[in-house]
Amino acid sequence: MESIINTKILVVMTILALSTGLGSCKIVQFIFGDSLSDVGNNKYLSKSLANANLPWYGIDFGNGMPNGRFTNGRTVADIIGDKMGLPRPPAFLDPSLTEDIILENGVNYASGGGGILNDTGNLFIQKFSLDKQIELFQGTQELIRSKIGAKAAEKFFNGSNYVVALGSNDFINNYLLPVYRDSWTYTDSSFVAYLMDTLGGQLKLLYNLGARQVTVFGLGPMGCIPLQRVLSTTGDCQEKTNNLALSFNRAGQKLVNDLSKSLKNSSIKFGDAYEVVAGVINDPAKFGFNNSDSPCCSFGQIRPALTCIPASTLCEDRSKYVFWDEYHPSDKANEMIANEIIRKLGFLYVNGTNTPPPAPAPTHAHAHAPSPGS
Ligand SMILES: *[C@@H]1O[C@H](CO)[C@@H](O)[C@H](O)[C@H]1NC(C)=O
Ligand SMILES: *[C@@H]1O[C@H](CO)[C@@H](O)[C@H](O)[C@H]1NC(C)=O
Ligand SMILES: *[C@@H]1O[C@H](CO)[C@@H](O)[C@H](O)[C@H]1NC(C)=O
Ligand SMILES: *[C@@H]1O[C@H](CO)[C@@H](O)[C@H](O)[C@H]1NC(C)=O
Ligand SMILES: *[C@@H]1O[C@H](CO)[C@@H](O)[C@H](O)[C@H]1NC(C)=O
Repeated sequence: MESIINTKILVVMTILALSTGLGSCKIVQFIFGDSLSDVGNNKYLSKSLANANLPWYGIDFGNGMPNGRFTNGRTVADIIGDKMGLPRPPAFLDPSLTEDIILENGVNYASGGGGILNDTGNLFIQKFSLDKQIELFQGTQELIRSKIGAKAAEKFFNGSNYVVALGSNDFINNYLLPVYRDSWTYTDSSFVAYLMDTLGGQLKLLYNLGARQVTVFGLGPMGCIPLQRVLSTTGDCQEKTNNLALSFNRAGQKLVNDLSKSLKNSSIKFGDAYEVVAGVINDPAKFGFNNSDSPCCSFGQIRPALTCIPASTLCEDRSKYVFWDEYHPSDKANEMIANEIIRKLGFLYVNGTNTPPPAPAPTHAHAHAPSPGS
């Protein structure tokens, strides 16, 4: 009898040890990114002009209410994490975030409008740049250290997965806009070099803070986002912008290869889905899409000034549109991007948690377009 009770106590203690991060099998993610990965930080930045806190954002996610994601459903990082069996990290600014939740789920610092450079996206008034996000991560580390002690905290942070997914705003909302100083200070190639220099320093800093497993996302054909197409009378993709994305990807791949070799015990990977997305954009029907040049959610012809707002009209079938709004891919396109990155980087199911994976978003959506004002 007594030994049974002791065993029970031991089991309880083991479970407690696991749930406070002393165990070694807990893997969570820390995500650094922009609107493509934001899961609600900007929702709490009350002055930010980059906000997805209005219908019809989130219409295919959970209860269909806006949740801070800049898409109709899941982000690429959501889908990759789900497929690896990792919990979805909550937004850093989520008021319910506690040390226990961090130990169970990690944290997502991604912020709409954010970039590798501090100045990127300043026109949105409020956002977290990558430097700021890393600064917030250091605060998280202190919090966890005081909760579970330095030794256990080091183990927890060394064993976690890290995602760094920024760069498009450094072009779209910085270098390519004549109001920004960088647009007249740099050339295409010196700007990409400047970004790589900055990103390299940021990745080294993350390494020094304990990050060992890091995935850096590359850029898609951002010259083909609806916002870029309306810049030309023909509605074609902006070739200059696409070429910038391609050189960012080439340089990013090299940077990551070099760092992964020089930083001991690190595995830093670079994943982009440029070619796959370009293929879908060229021939959407071949991949089951019906539209690859305009946003599913838009306000009549008032483009691109008014994009997805409550008075907007939605396309009939959201799973057939590559783009959800002027900037952001739809859930369905994000799924293709995620599958490509998983395939390229050879990610496997790791099951980082002993809790069941969070409920996936609906995979397809056939809701009818709401009429304006509904
Ligand atoms: C960028 O902002 C961070 C604070 O978030 C600051 O520490 C850093 O010095 C800034 N970098 C530059 C180049 O101004
Ligand atoms: C964990 O990260 C720290 C840096 O914070 C480093 O000093 C330590 O060697 C790392 N341990 C392992 C096992 O990678
Ligand atoms: C590398 O990993 C080994 C074994 O896990 C550890 O002892 C060492 O401190 C780590 N080195 C660094 C620089 O992280
Ligand atoms: C979308 O569907 C319509 C009607 O079936 C068709 O006429 C059109 O060519 C399709 N467009 C694309 C890009 O697949
Ligand atoms: C994940 O691993 C835990 C044990 O570590 C197990 O109980 C759970 O069933 C696994 N979940 C899945 C979805 O495989």
